[in-house]
Parts: sequence; C-alpha cells; structure tokens
Amino acid sequence: MEENNIKKDNIIAISWTGTCDSNPDLININIGKGKYSGKIIKLSKEFGVCIPTSGYVKEIDICGSTYGNKVDKFELTKFSRFEASSINVPLIKECPVNMECVLEEVVPFESHEMFIGRIVKTHVDENCLDDKGKIDFNKIDILAYVNDEYWTLGKKLGNLLFTRKK
Ligand SMILES: Cc1cc2nc3c(=O)[nH]c(=O)nc-3n(C[C@H](O)[C@H](O)[C@H](O)COP(=O)(O)O)c2cc1C
Repeated sequence: MEENNIKKDNIIAISWTGTCDSNPDLININIGKGKYSGKIIKLSKEFGVCIPTSGYVKEIDICGSTYGNKVDKFELTKFSRFEASSINVPLIKECPVNMECVLEEVVPFESHEMFIGRIVKTHVDENCLDDKGKIDFNKIDILAYVNDEYWTLGKKLGNLLFTRKK
C-alpha cells in the first residue's frame, strides 16, 4: 500500500523554506498536509534540499505541478540522480547546491506541516565557488520564486553590515 511503502524517489518544488538554527544547522521545509512528499519523508525520516539554477525553471515547474504518487518526476524532468553520502535519498546532479537532511521534527499547522531537517552534509559544485571558496551567486544563477512568478537574482547591492561604523 502506498501509505506504508515508498514507491519511488520523488522531487517536490518548495518555496516555503527557511533556516531554523545554526548549531546544529537546521532547515525547515513546509509541505501541505496529505501530500505524497510529506508522507514519504515521514517514512524515510530524511530528505535532500537541492537548489536549482534558473535554466531548470521548466523542470521545477513540473516538479511543482505533478504528483509523486502518480508520476516518476526523475523520469519526467530527466534530472540525474546523484548519490548522497549520509542519507538514502538521491540528490540532483544539475543543482549546484545539495543538502542532505535528517528529519528532526514535524511541526503541524492548520494546512501545512513544517519538516525540520538537520543538515548532515552539503555539496556545492566547485564551478560555483569564488577564489575564497565562497558561493559566487553570479556563477550559480539561482532560480528565485516570489508571488507566483519565477525570477533570476539581480545584481549584488553590498555586503552584510556594510552600514556598521568602524
Ligand atoms: C515554485 C513552486 C513552489 C512551491 N512551494 C510549495 C511549498 O513550499 N509547499 C508545498 O506544500 N507545496 C509547494 N508547491 C506545490 C507542490 O510542489 C505541489 O503540490 C507538488 O505537486 C506536490 O508534489 P507531490 O505530490 O509529489 O508531493 C510549490 C510549487 C511550485 C511550482
């Protein structure tokens, strides 16, 4: 029965996400109650968070408009699997940043559930780093989403705390 078995690997598009803590590194993703993705995360107790680039907007839209209990989204999108090192969930090779997460807690709300994951491993494509080893957002060309619209990032405005007096 689908309720008790994870039939296949799945990908869900998520915009409701955030940082919960930094020691340990905790991330949250919020999933509408009853969705296939939430069911299988509760069973496996792990998930990957994969950050897409703007070139894959069509694939992300597919992942966000099809249902994992009905279709195979790896097959539909042609995303390539990339083996995780600490969890038993495939990551996405085409995504420059992949985080392996172990489920810590599920917090129920009215319509959604917040899945809090502990990040146990992060993979970053070397081609997206600057000469100091930090992510270069010009190279990463991250896909942004706001108000039902897909965007790319604009230009950098400054560094954190640039207004602080020396
Ligand atoms: C860009 C985008 C962002 C989305 N963000 C969320 C989200 O944060 N939470 C959620 O529950 N659904 C979100 N959705 C909708 C799910 O991705 C969608 O319901 C999906 O079909 C569920 O897949 P599943 O049936 O395989 O679990 C989003 C869809 C898109 C296209």
